[in-house]
Amino acid sequence: MGVFRHLIWIAAPVAGLVLGVNVAAAQQPSAPAKLTAETCLGCHGVEGFTIPDDKGGTRNLHVDKDKFSKSVHGSRDCVDCHKQITEVPHQKLDRIRVDCVSCHRDQLEEAKDAKDAKKITTLSLVMDRIDEYLKSVHARPNAQDQSETNATCYNCHQAHYVYPPGSPQRAEWRQNLPNICGKCHEGQLAAYKTSVHGREVLEKNNPRAAVCSDCHSRHEVESASLDATRLDITQNCGGCHQANL
Ligand code: HEC
Ligand code: HEC
Ligand code: HEC
Ligand code: HEC
Ligand code: HEC
Ligand code: HEC
Ligand code: HEC
Repeated sequence: MGVFRHLIWIAAPVAGLVLGVNVAAAQQPSAPAKLTAETCLGCHGVEGFTIPDDKGGTRNLHVDKDKFSKSVHGSRDCVDCHKQITEVPHQKLDRIRVDCVSCHRDQLEEAKDAKDAKKITTLSLVMDRIDEYLKSVHARPNAQDQSETNATCYNCHQAHYVYPPGSPQRAEWRQNLPNICGKCHEGQLAAYKTSVHGREVLEKNNPRAAVCSDCHSRHEVESASLDATRLDITQNCGGCHQANL
């Protein structure tokens, strides 16, 4: 740990020089330099940037610059999401807090003011998904820790690499969804793996077979013990298996 820290804090001024950023000036409250994505990528853009974690493993702190810049948020600065970080070098955070909701709402208002039809369409769709999520089982307080929700946006969506529908990266993320849901639902993943759908998706890479969210819905996930949910799930089968209903 110690060695890593030293390497990093030595790397800071070097990264600053390379990027033409005055790290010392950035630290002075009187002249706050704008913290651009380039500044952050001076450290986090370095491949293999990992630190030891609390459990004796490693924690990956690398953000792939190329993949990030091509994502829907690629023109954003890191601090648009990481508002907790206001200077560089920065302190260790006790917990990462990112608000995925407010910015979409604000951007939709701006798009409406500017009458930007394309942005209005995209961002309205995002807001609809947010409303659905907020009513779901995942938005409710966790039974073990009520300060956390059961699952939040970036437990399912990759924080740095969100791509629009229709792109190959988006299709790849979808094929991997069972593993993402399965991080929290291990038993269901194990059962799914042996099912027809699981084998089609995970072994044969068939994009037409059902991933978890095709049956459970993406955002309106509800307890499967409710009759209404079971009915919804059965109706979802029909989207792909019309002949059998
Ligand atoms: C000088 C190198 C350096 C720069 C520049 C840098 N970071 Fe970091 N960052 C680190 C290190 C080291 C850690 C690990 C801290 C720890 O856990 O001990 C880290 C951790 C993080 C984390 C995880 C939270 C945590 O504390 O564990 C986030 C988020 C983060 N950085 C965002 C940013 C953003 C945003 C910027 C640009 C404004 C940035 N970093 C610039 C070195 C840097
Ligand atoms: C769209 C919002 C968003 C943007 C833009 C963003 N981040 Fe993040 N970042 C997040 C979220 C959310 C997490 C927490 C992810 C999680 O816990 O799964 C995170 C986590 C991190 C971590 C910790 C990784 C870990 O596994 O502990 C680092 C480091 C980081 N971000 C750096 C950056 C850097 C550098 C940039 C800019 C190039 C950036 N982020 C841009 C949302 C964002
Ligand atoms: C600082 C503003 C901002 C923040 C914070 C932000 N987003 Fe976005 N997001 C946008 C904008 C703007 C768009 C629309 C981009 C476009 O016009 O294609 C968008 C689009 C999206 C889309 C839709 C992609 C599509 O093309 O259909 C998803 C999904 C998304 N964001 C997820 C997230 C998640 C998850 C987080 C939190 C980790 C987050 N966003 C945080 C600004 C933001
Ligand atoms: C339980 C997992 C989960 C959570 C939590 C979640 N999403 Fe999603 N989201 C998905 C899945 C799965 C899809 C689409 C998969 C499919 O049908 O192809 C999706 C699709 C979307 C879309 C449509 C664009 C696209 O790529 O299809 C948007 C916008 C979106 N999510 C935003 C959000 C936001 C914002 C949050 C948090 C408020 C959130 N999601 C929380 C799983 C989740
Ligand atoms: C996203 C689309 C999709 C959804 C939703 C879906 N399936 Fe499937 N299902 C497939 C595909 C693709 C296959 C692969 C075999 C094929 O091509 O017929 C398959 C195979 C099957 C098979 C094996 C049949 C055979 O001919 O080998 C059964 C049984 C089945 N699904 C039942 C269901 C049930 C029950 C539901 C709802 C609870 C459901 N499916 C939801 C796409 C879907
Ligand atoms: C073909 C449709 C279908 C797919 C695909 C599917 N499920 Fe389910 N799931 C169901 C049905 C139907 C139930 C209701 C319980 C039952 O009858 O087994 C259920 C029940 C559940 C439950 C409630 C607890 C339980 O076991 O009864 C969870 C959690 C769950 N599924 C998560 C997942 C996850 C995670 C995935 C992907 C790895 C997944 N499901 C894939 C249809 C599906
Ligand atoms: C970060 C962890 C996490 C992720 C990721 C996650 N979930 Fe959940 N989910 C939970 C928790 C916690 C609950 C509430 C406790 C429970 O019932 O298991 C829950 C509840 C559920 C339920 C209701 C279970 C019941 O019948 O009571 C279903 C169905 C479900 N999730 C499906 C999914 C699907 C599908 C995905 C992926 C698209 C997913 N989850 C992703 C943590 C997660």
